[in-house]
Amino acid sequence: MKWQDQYSVNHPLMDQQHKQLFEILNQLEGHILKEEALDYFLETLEQLSDFAWEHFKAEETILEELKIEGLQDHMDKHQSFKKKIMAMTQSFFKQPDLKQVEEAYSFLSHWLVDHILEEDMKYKM
Ligand SMILES: [Fe+2]
Ligand SMILES: [Fe+2]
Repeated sequence: MKWQDQYSVNHPLMDQQHKQLFEILNQLEGHILKEEALDYFLETLEQLSDFAWEHFKAEETILEELKIEGLQDHMDKHQSFKKKIMAMTQSFFKQPDLKQVEEAYSFLSHWLVDHILEEDMKYKM
């Protein structure tokens, strides 16, 4: 995943956190390419969920302060992302395999880009 200027919401902290999320997913991609993803997947998911939680909380506070419309809807999307990560963690625990990791990477990377472009852009300054 490569960061592009069009992903910027013109908010330094939010851009920085979004870049950090890219970084975590790039790490995951690196593990897949080096065929060591099975060893690192749970660790990466934990890191991603911890950081995503922190980011969502900060972002929701900003949305509230700016009185951006559709806050609840945006929060619901964050919530379903959290649930998705939990479901991925559980299913990997039950049956760890590489296909799951690759599908997870594909889902997470698309989700992040789509979410930034479709939802987060609504608070772009
Ligand atoms: Fe968001
Ligand atoms: Fe965001």
